[in-house]
Amino acid sequence: MKKAKMIVDKAFKVGDVDKRIYGSFIEHLGRAVYTGIYQPEHETADENGFRKDVLKLVKDIDVPIVRYPGGNYVSNFFWEDSVGPIEQRAKRLDLAWRTLEPNTFGLDEFAKWSEKAGSDIMMAVNLGTRGIADACNLLEYCNHQGGSKYSDMRIEHGRKDPYNIKLWCLGNEMDGSWQVGHKTMDEYGRLSEETAKAMKLIDPSIELVSCGSSSLDMPTFPKWEATTLEYNYDYVDYISMHQYYGNAANNSNDYLAKSDDMDKFIKSVISTCDYVKAIKRSNKKINLSFDEWNVWFHSKEQENDITTNHPWQIAPPLLEDHYNFEDALMVGLMLITLLKNADRVKIACLAQLVNVIAPIMTEKDGNAWRQTIYYPYLHASKYGRGTVLQPILENQQHLTSDHGMIDDIVSVTVYNEEAEELTIFAVNRNLDEDLELNLDIRSFDDYKMKEHIVMTNNDLKAVNTPEKENVYPVYAENEAISDGKANIILKKASWNVIRFNKNK
Ligand code: AHR
Repeated sequence: MKKAKMIVDKAFKVGDVDKRIYGSFIEHLGRAVYTGIYQPEHETADENGFRKDVLKLVKDIDVPIVRYPGGNYVSNFFWEDSVGPIEQRAKRLDLAWRTLEPNTFGLDEFAKWSEKAGSDIMMAVNLGTRGIADACNLLEYCNHQGGSKYSDMRIEHGRKDPYNIKLWCLGNEMDGSWQVGHKTMDEYGRLSEETAKAMKLIDPSIELVSCGSSSLDMPTFPKWEATTLEYNYDYVDYISMHQYYGNAANNSNDYLAKSDDMDKFIKSVISTCDYVKAIKRSNKKINLSFDEWNVWFHSKEQENDITTNHPWQIAPPLLEDHYNFEDALMVGLMLITLLKNADRVKIACLAQLVNVIAPIMTEKDGNAWRQTIYYPYLHASKYGRGTVLQPILENQQHLTSDHGMIDDIVSVTVYNEEAEELTIFAVNRNLDEDLELNLDIRSFDDYKMKEHIVMTNNDLKAVNTPEKENVYPVYAENEAISDGKANIILKKASWNVIRFNKNK
């Protein structure tokens, strides 16, 4: 059997995990809202029309923050239409997805839902078809105490206390030609600078996310980041990153290598932020908000057909990727990559949360159920809080067609000092061979193994359905630790969560 060595030490600190790295995203898109989180006629609906079966699955993950209301949707979002008495709200054409938005669920409903889910809100403003004034009005509605036009409007709508939303996105994917109101980098640089300046005058306590490139493949990357940050550097706190991967070529080895590209993307954006910092002679550090990441490719044809041939429906089934086992490995790899960069990645949103490229699915007249990718996300959010330690790895490698030789094991360790727990997340992305990991947790020699959670499957294409869960985690046998050392088997193509706690 192949062998690898891993040394974990308290001294190998990368940084503290900001819990917002386990954020997610609800966009007014497809069935995310209607028949997703909100369905008043569903048998589990609460007094607000929120599906309790969905809320339970969301709460199990403990999602700290949810981005809203888009995505591409935000670029023609008229927030005023989404508040006030429901029967008076106007239906609107959503240009991003060519659907009809009934506005029976809006900003105030989402704020209520978030409170129930135990999540904070990451709110986006429309810098596509609107601008500074509307962003300011929305912020005033959400965060101002009262005694002004929009804060009084909120109070009139039944919400006395401000929502105090702390995190705001300055538009969405403004570099993309598909974006309604798409901007050049100079146009976006100026607009975001002035919007940020005005918003911070209303509420200096907020944090702002400037739009970065829509993916690593954008022709304007990384010039977009450098140019736009040169305009808005003094007013913004984070720059956004978005990236989706897929296995359209049906080459699983190469697919799982793509998390290495994600790591390179992160490192390039960090360098670009620091380059602008140098130009500005600034002491301020811009951190990263990876506010859209996931696997997205299974549903592309269906989505093109609906948006092109069947427009203006309310909540059609858009972007309903049905994830398989290898997608769960990919999501695990992406989570590890985010954690490895925890010193600079402070926010990340799995895009999205319910029905739309989502870990949680619903049947309109039935149950909510977990996709394969639900599990790595759940494990990371539950056990990945604390300080990231970078393990030293003597790895093994295998060959891929497009990425050359890549490491078999991709891993990161999180130490929760308060709970006295150490968790190793590891994917063995070698699809053919198990591997023995000789583990040395030298500075944790008074720890014992608590559990080893494993997800593996002989069929990389295995999926879960509403009727049957075929892909789910199981427990491997615990290994004894002697002198801080243990040998652990990482099965071929497996997601592993190896947890230790202090001997009491
Ligand atoms: O998450 C789906 C879409 O992907 C979002 O609306 C957009 O921002 C991105 O292109």
